[in-house]
Amino acid sequence: MTIQTVATTPFAGQRPGTSGLRKKVTEFQQPGYLENFVEAIFLSLGDCNGRTVVLGGDGRYFNRDAIQTILHMAAAHGVARMLVGQGGILSTPAVSCVIRKHGAFGGIVLSASHNPGGPDGDFGIKYNIENGGPAPEKITEAIFARTQALSSYRISDAPPVNLDEIGTTTLDGMQVEVIDPVLDYAELMGRLFDFDAIRALFGRGFRMKFDGMGAVSGPYAKAIIEGVLGAPGGTVINGEPLEDFGGHHPDPNPVNAAELIALMNGPDAPDFGAASDGDGDRNMIVGRGIAVTPSDSLAIIAANATLAPGYAAGIKGIARSMPTSMAADRVAEALGIACYETPTGWKYFGNLMDAGMVTLCGEESYGTGSSHVREKDGLWAVLFWLNMLAASGKSVEQLVSEHWARFGRNYYSRHDYEAVDALAADATMTALRDKLPTLAGQTLGEYRVALGDDFVYTDPVDHSVASRQGVRIIMTDGSRIVFRLSGTGTEGATVRLYLERYEADPARHHLDTQEALSSLVAIAESVSELRQRTGRQQPSVVT
Ligand code: G1P
Ligand code: ZN
Repeated sequence: MTIQTVATTPFAGQRPGTSGLRKKVTEFQQPGYLENFVEAIFLSLGDCNGRTVVLGGDGRYFNRDAIQTILHMAAAHGVARMLVGQGGILSTPAVSCVIRKHGAFGGIVLSASHNPGGPDGDFGIKYNIENGGPAPEKITEAIFARTQALSSYRISDAPPVNLDEIGTTTLDGMQVEVIDPVLDYAELMGRLFDFDAIRALFGRGFRMKFDGMGAVSGPYAKAIIEGVLGAPGGTVINGEPLEDFGGHHPDPNPVNAAELIALMNGPDAPDFGAASDGDGDRNMIVGRGIAVTPSDSLAIIAANATLAPGYAAGIKGIARSMPTSMAADRVAEALGIACYETPTGWKYFGNLMDAGMVTLCGEESYGTGSSHVREKDGLWAVLFWLNMLAASGKSVEQLVSEHWARFGRNYYSRHDYEAVDALAADATMTALRDKLPTLAGQTLGEYRVALGDDFVYTDPVDHSVASRQGVRIIMTDGSRIVFRLSGTGTEGATVRLYLERYEADPARHHLDTQEALSSLVAIAESVSELRQRTGRQQPSVVT
């Protein structure tokens, strides 16, 4: 067996987006496409001798092929040891956990997260660094620069590795350790949460449904919720990771998890419902008749964090992405801790967690997590809710209503205009940016504009600056309209419109969200001329 040097030429467009490189499977299947990107990763890592690298994915179509390619390229680059999830499976938070636990140099995550899978769906690849988190922009930019200047890649011609049997083999001198994908992760969860209290809750007949959406979190949820915590079989539905996610769109929101939402609104609703996405880092929390917004979930977890043993000493700080509602800010203020506002994407939380400045992080896009790993973590959020329910004896609805009564309610919604013409989307953003200087002081409907800007973030740890992170129109009462373009889509452009309004009065805490936000929606659409410019009369998805 030898190391081959294969001639190649650069592909355009291999710049990682919000979360790694995501493209159509067919694009990844072009000869040399995946190889080029992987070569660029290994070249940017420098000397790989003696290094351990973690590798796994969400099981989507092309996962196994990509794993074989990456293993063979890792061997060619002198990596000492690869830790690979059995069957090629590792959820994104599990990769982060394994990197940290085993002191690995980094990891490669194969996933396009919540984007659909299958031969006509999407695939993705992302590099995570030593802290277990997504590589920061300076590394992803260095990888991109390498992709543009490649003339060859190196790969071993050894036979494929058996990914299905746990144990260690060698590949051209490199150790390949196929590991149980759940073990390390489950052990970490057991240290953070009161498993005895949750077990007792299920023992008292508490009923739950966890929707794995045919994606990677099924085996984790089955092992922990049904296995360790004793929930009855059938608690986890759609629990097998399938190459096409069983046709599901594995994005846990009330639109895509319609079956679960209908169940939770029905006459025989269980006490608790939850779902996770393609690669297991997102979560949706549902009570009887109520879907908890991710922004509220972050705030409620923060307010009740000390109920979980792993957080009993209190939390150090909170970070949320800019478009996420400001509900968590109010909790931070009450706790006397800092709340940081970062650009969209989990990679911006890493420095704050590494520096010990924050414990909890969240995004409005169904992402919640903590410094236990450096990725958002779907099942962790679900277990946190189970812990809160068990320790407080309250229902989801009670926890949410009581939270609003104490802190006020931040009505919140996101409107996505998906797969619109990229030029029209760019023109919309440019026109908005041009208007920004004139907005402050204007009266728009019932609101007065306090600030119009394009969000710029200066990392408080390494002082790196990220600009053009979203157009904000902030009203004098704190209500907000935010526009940004998605960095994860693979078709045309997706315009995201985020809306937020604060309501202190408990008598007005149970309005319909879209009604509560309707005047902000009207303002957003008239300022941006979104409908005329994109030719869309309504958003594709409202969450
Ligand atoms: C989306 C979400 C963002 C999240 C990312 C990866 O990115 O909005 O919060 O971090 O997916 O899961 P976007 O498509 O908006 O760039
Ligand atoms: Zn995801």
